[in-house]
Amino acid sequence: MSIDDLRERTMRAIVHREFGASDVLRVEEVPLPEPGEGLVRVRVAAAGVHAVDTDIRRGGGPPSMPKPVLPMTPGREVAGIVDAVGSGVNESVLGARVVAHVGFRSGGYAEFALAPVEALHPVPAEVTLPQAVAAIGTGRTAQLVLESVEIRPDDVVIIPGASGGLGSQLVQLALSIGATVVGLHGGETKRAVVEQLGVGARRAGGRLIALDANDDTWPVRLAGLLDGVQPSVLIDGVGGPTGRAAVETLGRGARVVIIGWSSGEVVRLDSADIVERSLTVAVPLGRPIAELRTLETRALAAVAEGRVSPPVDEYRLEDAAAAHDAIEQRRQRGKVVLIP
Ligand SMILES: NC(=O)c1ccc[n+]([C@@H]2O[C@H](COP(=O)([O-])OP(=O)(O)OC[C@H]3O[C@@H](n4cnc5c(N)ncnc54)[C@H](OP(=O)(O)O)[C@@H]3O)[C@@H](O)[C@H]2O)c1
Repeated sequence: MSIDDLRERTMRAIVHREFGASDVLRVEEVPLPEPGEGLVRVRVAAAGVHAVDTDIRRGGGPPSMPKPVLPMTPGREVAGIVDAVGSGVNESVLGARVVAHVGFRSGGYAEFALAPVEALHPVPAEVTLPQAVAAIGTGRTAQLVLESVEIRPDDVVIIPGASGGLGSQLVQLALSIGATVVGLHGGETKRAVVEQLGVGARRAGGRLIALDANDDTWPVRLAGLLDGVQPSVLIDGVGGPTGRAAVETLGRGARVVIIGWSSGEVVRLDSADIVERSLTVAVPLGRPIAELRTLETRALAAVAEGRVSPPVDEYRLEDAAAAHDAIEQRRQRGKVVLIP
């Protein structure tokens, strides 16, 4: 066997051999994965990076996710071209431009990754592969949020973390319905990211207000900008003091959707808040896989139809540690994606 033959059977992948700081994510030359029964191999053009990946890398992560056995290659969202199929898979899928959420199987931070054939979605021609990656996981969550809170054109929707992967898509979806959207961002450097969301996707006349949540006067400024109208929807993935300040701005009968707590503390809401202002609260997380697939299809359609144009923050595969640093240091702009 020549060195060239050997080279063809290996690939570059991020291998995570110990839990710890981002420098545990290193590129290695590893064997090319061979697809077994029901699996395809995807030549990865874009791999999604998630805030949860950083928790798992440190040795934590949500209780709903099994702690990985090391060594492992992180990455649950991949888009690219099918280059090999395992037994039982129709060869017509070879060469297809696809995206998949591979779940706990992981392995996305690599030049090639395996995916169950039933997880594949064809990527519409209008959608780039990094955008497809933004749609398949984060976009499906955005669709789940839309299901749980029916946004109307007359709504005023507050979205903390508007420059993040999920927040940015939610801002665009609410604008596409025609709502007034208040996008909160942390620091003036992120203002442009949020303002760009208003021009990046198709909107239905909705108004976008970007406010710096690090400036404590934002609720007062918002009240002035809304001329007495109070927000009717809060979609909160940040929690902590920012989430709580957002709750304080809500009007009677407002709907609150809790999707996470990037600050480390879930938004504080007590029964007095709920009863006195007739708030309704939804926590739309954790759905059966079959429902997730429908949401994934809807998320890809939203991008193809221009209702969402997800901002993508691209890093080279070998810079996976820097991509994790960006998320942990709040420097991400939209969905963080690795390009092998
Ligand atoms: N993406 C998904 O598929 C998904 C699924 C389920 C739940 N969630 C949850 O939804 C939330 C948002 O997810 P995401 O994917 O958009 O995450 P992300 O890309 O990391 O964005 C989170 C945003 O939160 C803001 N933030 C405010 N205070 C923060 C703090 N103390 N530490 C870190 N970030 C802070 C940051 O924006 P500023 O710096 O501008 O404030 C950041 O851009 C998270 O809580 C996540 O767990 C996400």
